[in-house]
Amino acid sequence: MDLAINHGEIFGLVGPNGSGKTTLTNAISGFYPPNKGIVRMAGKDITGVAPHKVARLGVARTFQNLALFNGMSVLDNILLGRHIHMHPGVLPTMLYWWVARREEIANRMIVEEVIEFLQLESVRNELVDGLPIGLKKRVELARALVSEPRMLILDEPMAGMNQEEKGYMARFILDARAERGISVLLIEHHMDVIVGICDRMLALNYGEMIAGGIPKDVVKDPRVIEAYIGGGAHG
Ligand SMILES: Nc1ncnc2c1ncn2[C@@H]1O[C@H](COP(=O)(O)OP(=O)(O)OP(=O)(O)O)[C@@H](O)[C@H]1O
Ligand SMILES: [Mg+2]
Repeated sequence: MDLAINHGEIFGLVGPNGSGKTTLTNAISGFYPPNKGIVRMAGKDITGVAPHKVARLGVARTFQNLALFNGMSVLDNILLGRHIHMHPGVLPTMLYWWVARREEIANRMIVEEVIEFLQLESVRNELVDGLPIGLKKRVELARALVSEPRMLILDEPMAGMNQEEKGYMARFILDARAERGISVLLIEHHMDVIVGICDRMLALNYGEMIAGGIPKDVVKDPRVIEAYIGGGAHG
């Protein structure tokens, strides 16, 4: 595979089950060190760099299988996304507490702002366990956004959503780009969403690129249609 995502671009990645979309995101975000090839972030080689370090460089992600902490509130799950910015206690104690307190206030402000942005006020103190899937996905997006990323990797953020929830999520992704200048790698099986919000896209099949370019053209490409029909379609 060979792809470059531009600054502020929403880039779609599609392909049938098992085509390698999640594997690619794991290679980018450091969860699987690639056997070969290079991953660059703003020109810097980050191949094989550990996930927490890639996160510090500004790449945030959400997971195909939700990775929220049950038994914790929405607010606490979102606050966890700030941990990459908290400093380890290497400072002298007095100074540490002062810095920690200031950081805590700054963290809270950023978290509050994201809660408002994603319209999560009404569920902020609820346990994530019982939330409907659409809201869970939104909490995951919030947790990614509070790390103040330069790039977001969203692995099927609309899976299991109804039309209205999908519309909200599409709006949030567009606003994240417009208001925060975030680049987005968006994996989705919903082609209407890909065509609706992506600037460019790439289609994979069996770990290889089969078509790429402007979404409205790529989704009509016979190779893409064949891959989806041949490989089992998605809802
Ligand atoms: N940790 C792993 N070890 C070995 N094989 C794996 C691992 N993870 C994925 N695979 C295999 O790699 C291939 C690509 O899987 P991947 O999860 O990247 O597909 P995908 O495009 O994200 O599919 P889906 O649409 O189902 O999420 C599949 O054949 C899968 O079974
Ligand atoms: Mg996947």
